[in-house]
Parts: sequence; structure tokens; C-alpha cells
Amino acid sequence: MTYNPYNKKMQEPTKILSEEHQFILKVIGALNRECDALEKGKSIDKNFFERAIDFIRNYADKFHHAKEEDILFKELCKDDVNMHCNPTEQMRYEHDLGRNFVKGIEQALKENNKKKVLENARGYTQLLQDHISKEDNILYPMADEALNEEKKKSMLKKFKEAESKRFTKGTKEKYLELANEFEKWQKDK
Ligand SMILES: [Fe+2]
Ligand SMILES: [Fe+2]
Repeated sequence: MTYNPYNKKMQEPTKILSEEHQFILKVIGALNRECDALEKGKSIDKNFFERAIDFIRNYADKFHHAKEEDILFKELCKDDVNMHCNPTEQMRYEHDLGRNFVKGIEQALKENNKKKVLENARGYTQLLQDHISKEDNILYPMADEALNEEKKKSMLKKFKEAESKRFTKGTKEKYLELANEFEKWQKDK
């Protein structure tokens, strides 16, 4: 059956984002293992990195980070939401740092520069692993507490709208399959 987090009963919007993290982490795991192989002397597998960049740009950024930036973070910055601190600026900044690392990987591929591929890919995986851990363990629990049921319901609706606006039918499934394939393929190596 096709993966669809909305099929489940009413849930926290952050649960959907956390589930998306699991797919992003599969690609990050594959990137780390590919970096290990590069360090051991393997030459650059351009096709692997290009597919990883496609996933990061479209799924991690356009699909996931956009929902955070345009919906969750905006909601958390409203005056009537009470949080003892608001880490969303830092989270936005980290999304930008991630985008720069991805540009760096892309540039390094053009130059066929292994050292630069490694620096930027490792920079990205480290940044995103930390970032995801902060969101899952700190920001999302804070959001679950700070947002009332009405806001959560409206956010779930906005999530759905954003998904169908950004992704045509089947696009999300294509990226989830890629993440699963990367995870399996890298483990089988
Ligand atoms: Fe984020
Ligand atoms: Fe996230």
C-alpha cells in the first residue's frame, strides 16, 4: 500500500514532519556510506550524488523544509503562540546552510573534485543529522504543546494543500522509493 501519513487518525502535524525525517535520514545514511567509500579510494559515483541532490532539493527542501518554513515556523511566530523561546530563526538559518552545502557538492561534481565533494557532503550530513535531532527532540515537542487543536487542524489542512501544490501525483512516492532503494542498496554493498 502506498505510504500516506494522512490515512491515520487525526495526529500532530509534527508527527508528519518527523516521519519525513526518517526518509531524509535514509538518504543521509547512504551519503555517509558513500563518503566512507570515497575516503577508502573509490572514485566519484556521479549518478549517486546527482540522485541524492535531486532528493535533497525536491523532497528534503521543497517538500519538507517548505512545510516547516511556510507553515509550522510561521504559526509558531504568531503573537498568540506562547513559547519560552523561539528557535525557528536558527532552524531557517540551518536550512540555508544545508542549501549551500548542496551547491558545494554540485560544484565539486562539475570539477570532479573528490576532496570538495567529501567536505560538502560530510558538512551536509552532519548539519542535517544535528538539525533533525533538534527538531524531533526540542522544537516539535515545544510546538505540540504551544499549538491548540484548532491550529493543528488548520496546519494539517495547509500541509495537504502545500503537498498537492508542490508535488504532482506520484512524485512523493517516487522520492520515498528512492530513499528506500538507497538504504537497501547501500546496505547490500
Ligand atoms: Fe528543519
Ligand atoms: Fe525538519
